[in-house]
Amino acid sequence: MKVLLPGGTGHVGRVLQRAFAGDGDEVVVVTRRPGAGGAVAGPRVREVGWDGRTVGEWAREVDGCDVVVNLAGRSVSCRYTPANLRQMRDSRVDSARAVGEAVAAATRPPRLWLQMSTATLYAHRFDAPNDEATGLVGGGEPGVPGYWGYSVEIARAWEAAQAEAATPATRKVALRAAMVMGPGRGSVFDVLSWLVRLGLGGPVAGGRQYVSWIHEDDFVRALRFLIGREDLSGPVNLAAPGPLPQRAFMRDLRAAWRVPVGLPATRAMAGVGAYVLRSDTELLLKSRRVVPGRLTEAGFAFAHGEWAPAARDLVRRARGARRA
Ligand SMILES: NC(=O)c1ccc[n+]([C@@H]2O[C@H](COP(=O)([O-])OP(=O)(O)OC[C@H]3O[C@@H](n4cnc5c(N)ncnc54)[C@H](OP(=O)(O)O)[C@@H]3O)[C@@H](O)[C@H]2O)c1
Repeated sequence: MKVLLPGGTGHVGRVLQRAFAGDGDEVVVVTRRPGAGGAVAGPRVREVGWDGRTVGEWAREVDGCDVVVNLAGRSVSCRYTPANLRQMRDSRVDSARAVGEAVAAATRPPRLWLQMSTATLYAHRFDAPNDEATGLVGGGEPGVPGYWGYSVEIARAWEAAQAEAATPATRKVALRAAMVMGPGRGSVFDVLSWLVRLGLGGPVAGGRQYVSWIHEDDFVRALRFLIGREDLSGPVNLAAPGPLPQRAFMRDLRAAWRVPVGLPATRAMAGVGAYVLRSDTELLLKSRRVVPGRLTEAGFAFAHGEWAPAARDLVRRARGARRA
């Protein structure tokens, strides 16, 4: 296959570059910064430049490729200032529109366009898991800060940009992904592990809020599964079947690192921590109880369905990478 990865230079993109190139596929990374080190080394991976907003020379690569996986978007780990929120939204909507235009204009369009979305689309809730059929879309939940609605609105606009694209010859899937857990430097797992090793990996604000996650191997396996299943289109949750409360999630991660203590943090302490890390507390406090309804129904089997053994596996890999 020839696989195009717009925005494929980040944590998830590099996982996919390695996976597809490792399978013998041709990988083209579409980046705003060619040559800046975002492509993994190897004969099957190359880069082309774009501005993340408009159709240009790069669109030639769409013609005749098999699969596009669009990952582009400004990082959400930032302070939610009006300017940052606008960039978070525009970078996602504009890049998805540009991909849609390129696919629509292709003489030999790709057979599949996988568009990154997010599990953050679903409501903050504790009572029941969100799957694609019965899940509640977020925004306006009682008792949560009003600004949490922005992330939901961004996710809706992001998915709409794909859904509205007139690409009749190309199957479209929106990947409602939970946190992708891999040992790579700078990944969510890396940051959480750093906090754990500092003794700061305890419950935050009581730790009742659910954490949804997916092991990077299962993320790759799920994409391969979706590539092979011509009958699946539309939104698909990419989350392990075992989301768990943050308190338990951190306890299992501490156990995997063999760190006995994790200082609990109040909501206010989380606010200070998020500020210092130039992030936002929504990422810590929103209860993300998301499960893989459609994948499971379609027969996808997770290799890492439960967090405790997945965390042990990731710690083993992180230690191995450090030693190497
Ligand atoms: N990581 C997760 O656990 C997770 C979970 C759910 C959803 N997602 C979503 O999946 C996507 C990929 O995740 P990731 O962790 O790999 O993200 P990432 O490390 O932040 O990488 C995203 C890539 O998007 C490009 N980008 C950044 N700002 C942009 C802008 N203003 N316009 C166009 N492109 C821009 C960058 O590529 P260049 O600088 O090379 O152009 C960057 O490498 C993101 O959209 C993220 O929100 C991630």
